[in-house]
Amino acid sequence: MTDAGRHPNIKLLTLSEVTDVKGYVGNFKVRIRKKARYVDASQCTACGDCAKVCPVVRPDEFNVGLSSRKAIYSPFPQAVPSAYVLNPSECLGHNPAVCAKCVEVCGKKCIDFHMSDEEIEETVGSIIVATGLEPYDPRELDEYGYTRFDNVLSSLELERLVNAGGPTQGHLIRPSDRKTPRSVGFIQCVGSRSARKGGEYCSNICCMNTVKSTLVLKEHYPDIDIKVFYIDIRAFGKGFEDLFKRSRRLGVNYLRGIPGSVEEMPDKSLRIAVENTATGAIEFMDLDMLVLALGVKPSKSTRRLQEMLGLQLTPDGFFLEAHPKLQPVDAATRGVFYAGCAEAPKDVKDSVTQASAAAARAIRLMHKGEITTEPITSVIIEDKCKCCGKCAEVCPYNAITVDVKKKIPAVVNAAACAGCGTCAAECMFDAITMNHFTDEQITGQVNELLAENPEDKILTFACNWCSYAGADYAGVSRLQYPPNARLIRVMCSGRVDEKFIWEGFRKGAPVILVSGCHIGDCHYIDANHWTVKRVEKIHKKMERLGIRKERLQLEWVSAAEGIRWAEVMRALEPLRKSVTKKEIDETVAVLKKQK
Ligand code: FES
Repeated sequence: MTDAGRHPNIKLLTLSEVTDVKGYVGNFKVRIRKKARYVDASQCTACGDCAKVCPVVRPDEFNVGLSSRKAIYSPFPQAVPSAYVLNPSECLGHNPAVCAKCVEVCGKKCIDFHMSDEEIEETVGSIIVATGLEPYDPRELDEYGYTRFDNVLSSLELERLVNAGGPTQGHLIRPSDRKTPRSVGFIQCVGSRSARKGGEYCSNICCMNTVKSTLVLKEHYPDIDIKVFYIDIRAFGKGFEDLFKRSRRLGVNYLRGIPGSVEEMPDKSLRIAVENTATGAIEFMDLDMLVLALGVKPSKSTRRLQEMLGLQLTPDGFFLEAHPKLQPVDAATRGVFYAGCAEAPKDVKDSVTQASAAAARAIRLMHKGEITTEPITSVIIEDKCKCCGKCAEVCPYNAITVDVKKKIPAVVNAAACAGCGTCAAECMFDAITMNHFTDEQITGQVNELLAENPEDKILTFACNWCSYAGADYAGVSRLQYPPNARLIRVMCSGRVDEKFIWEGFRKGAPVILVSGCHIGDCHYIDANHWTVKRVEKIHKKMERLGIRKERLQLEWVSAAEGIRWAEVMRALEPLRKSVTKKEIDETVAVLKKQK
């Protein structure tokens, strides 16, 4: 951090919050609220004289409340910049009659109560989201007695206790009597891998954090009795299995089973009841101290940032990468990258690796000074645009601007447009065309594919990234399914315009399939939500026209689901056979009348 603070090309904005992001790759406009520090950081020498005279005492967040700080304080010893900060909601005020003791003693005269928050705007080419994590709040799982018993600590609290720079200078003490405990238990997966409370995912770091803590404790207190209660120990990673073995060799007792109850004894020790799932026996044991190995949650700022940048989240609430294998540090929004636990729980090594990759991706994008975009973008046909604003509403990338009130036609920002085609499919006035996937090109394919014996065919629109790749996978896996599917590739299922469907039925298609990525996996953020809405709308219209709505199917198939693709196609075959020639002719006649 010190290096980053000193680097001539890095502008470090501390005590700052991103309030808005507009723009696109190469030209993001970021609005930032720079909060008032009330201390001139360029003058402050961090001598600490101000804190010595400050009468306000508050829990120190860095030491998880195990020690105290003043209303004017240094957040932690290695903080950058190395300067004090004043918390205005805790300070007694600058009226000398009230306090202002810090102002009086500051030799550098760097405390200024008249500072105020500043709004600034920065223009940047790319953005790396590294919002970190939140530890799980153990108060939610109170069966372990975190809020009731003095000697139940969180792993974070233990971490500060055994740290040489911590509140006890590294001495392990029991909070109830400040004596060194003779026995310590660790409960794993607190807030992880649970459908009941916390997350269902593995938090990745807790097992090895516990193993590390047991090694530190054994090094300082060789006779200490340590028990670790676990579901399973996940020690994957370079050298981690060795650390786990070393911990066991040193006598740490790993017991497979999570305690069912924790009770406090009169001497403040803790009685644990646990089923040892290796032996099936219920065991009771007394421990001086219990440590809850906390899982991790996405950072609190995740939701707000997701809305600002148009990003996607996983069901667990972490940021979703553009592709898990091919673009693991890229967001779906071009020019945005992820580092660290913003994307998923990970340890320091993986966070550093991902941060380096994100930085390299950003440099690769920016170093030329110009951005090359894919030619597959939307183009507005101004004469046809009625300025209704629908295209801007559906664009997942906010790449279209249109002034509905002043009737100024839509404009597409080619740098921000990713080419999903949802705008073109939603435009009622045919005022948008998609380069390389124009209406004429797609209807031309429909006509060609259904030119002969259309009743034998299943017309299929498949999105490039998932369904088309899934069909390909089924092919290379030599999976058998009826050979009558006729595929039309579109970049996203969101591109499938209503008129392509009607054209298909008009040309005699018995069954039409629209297929894309699973909801939440669309490569254009949430464009396939519009596919769902559109298909629902077409279904209603089909019912009104007396056309069986089953003849238009919507299925989600991912690139890895070759088997599912073959199953879907096999399942459609009986439906296709059930559509008689008479039914097709009637549909064609109804639609011709509509035209
Ligand atoms: Fe597959 Fe959008 S990219 S549905």
